[in-house]
Amino acid sequence: MSEDTCNLRVGDSGKEVKLPVYSGTLGPKVVDIRKLYGQTGTFTFDPGFLATASCESKITFIDGEKGVLLYRGYPIDQLAQHSSHLEVCYLLMYGELPTAGQFAEFRSNITRHTMVHEGLKNFYNGFRRDAHPMATMVGVVGALSAFYHDSLDIHNPEHREISAHRLIAKMPTIAAWSYKYSLGQPFLYPDNKLGYAENFLRMMFGVPAEDYEVNPVVARALDRIFILHADHEQNASTSTVRLAGSSGANPFACISAGIGTLWGPAHGGANEAVLKMLGEIGSVKNIEACIRRSEDPKDPFRLMGFGHRVYKSYDPRAKIIRESCHEVLAELGVNDPLLDVAMALEEKALNEDYFISRQLYPNVDFYSGIILKAIGIPTNMFTVIFALGRTVGWVSHWMEMIKEPDTVIGRPRQLYTGATNRDYKPIAKRR
Ligand code: ACO
Repeated sequence: MSEDTCNLRVGDSGKEVKLPVYSGTLGPKVVDIRKLYGQTGTFTFDPGFLATASCESKITFIDGEKGVLLYRGYPIDQLAQHSSHLEVCYLLMYGELPTAGQFAEFRSNITRHTMVHEGLKNFYNGFRRDAHPMATMVGVVGALSAFYHDSLDIHNPEHREISAHRLIAKMPTIAAWSYKYSLGQPFLYPDNKLGYAENFLRMMFGVPAEDYEVNPVVARALDRIFILHADHEQNASTSTVRLAGSSGANPFACISAGIGTLWGPAHGGANEAVLKMLGEIGSVKNIEACIRRSEDPKDPFRLMGFGHRVYKSYDPRAKIIRESCHEVLAELGVNDPLLDVAMALEEKALNEDYFISRQLYPNVDFYSGIILKAIGIPTNMFTVIFALGRTVGWVSHWMEMIKEPDTVIGRPRQLYTGATNRDYKPIAKRR
């Protein structure tokens, strides 16, 4: 990290302060404002962190203008094409692609942890059958700390690593069981002969009475979805995990907080909304009217799966997922009219001045819902799939933060606009 300085004049006093300016390896420079308050008595105001780097990180880089997404420097399209989710987990956690020996050891560590404590099963029985699976996930993942006390010393690197492995390994089991519970079907134990996505598919769709054969094309597509969702730098859920972790909270509590944040429709729930919208459009002949609605400033309707806060060009993940979508539908022999609507809608929107001038392109959610639907994943499990893939991103950021010697508890300041100091009035004297 190289350093420069800038001068900033604050307020009418004309007082000038010299602030350090850092350059990372990629991306814009940042001004270090930590001494601003001490020297000027002034805070900065940035709700939503639109212009604030909340931490230093070496994990993921996004260039939204150019449509670039790198995990530890590797382009997402190369990883999606050549790697597997477990290998990406290693890369995100440890910073380098593993050698064959390192990967074998990592895979064995993860597979050894796929089962969950038998007592944890009782938690499911406490939920209503129609509970949203994300509600179940928040509860069960948070409860893991009650079962794995042997690895909760966050200052011990071995403990941190075991907890991280446990989270990555157990998440598919916990997720599949949240679905099984909603159906009233028995839970299936993990089968460690299978790969990460295969194991999840079997626990989701298998039953103890029959063998379940995993379709390799479906498993590969799901593994890719996990890769594409594995990390996305300081998004809302990852920032939540870091903030929770900065207080010294245990890793299971932190990830549970991340799952809760991801659940929000502005974050993890958009692919569900895309599917609903495509269903409402119903046919290619209705696309024109839908586009007109989305362009009408008086109509709050937006084209779901289009636009992104960071990407101002084609979301690199959307390109990959579009390809996968065709592969999966062809393999399964699914002729989903929603895919025809999606492709025609994309083509039409990308040629509209409204979308071109506002740099609105399809995002990762535009096609992922169609794949998940074709695989047989119910819509209320879409965000759970996202959480499963994102778990490694959350634990990698949590580990990076804890290791950082300068980490302090996250504690934003505020611009107070409430009442000024006033005296308490007894109730009889209030009007
Ligand atoms: N359809 C129609 N118009 C849109 C859309 C859209 N999907 N997205 C943005 N616009 C328009 C806005 O109306 C605005 O127009 P104006 O300049 O005439 O007022 C302009 O484009 C800029 O919009 P902002 O809301 O300022 O853009 P921002 O970057 O803040 O929003 C967001 C990004 C929230 C993702 C937005 O594009 C959106 O609502 N998209 C649809 C929902 C969606 O797909 N979300 C998933 C995001 S990906 C993820 O979270 C994994």
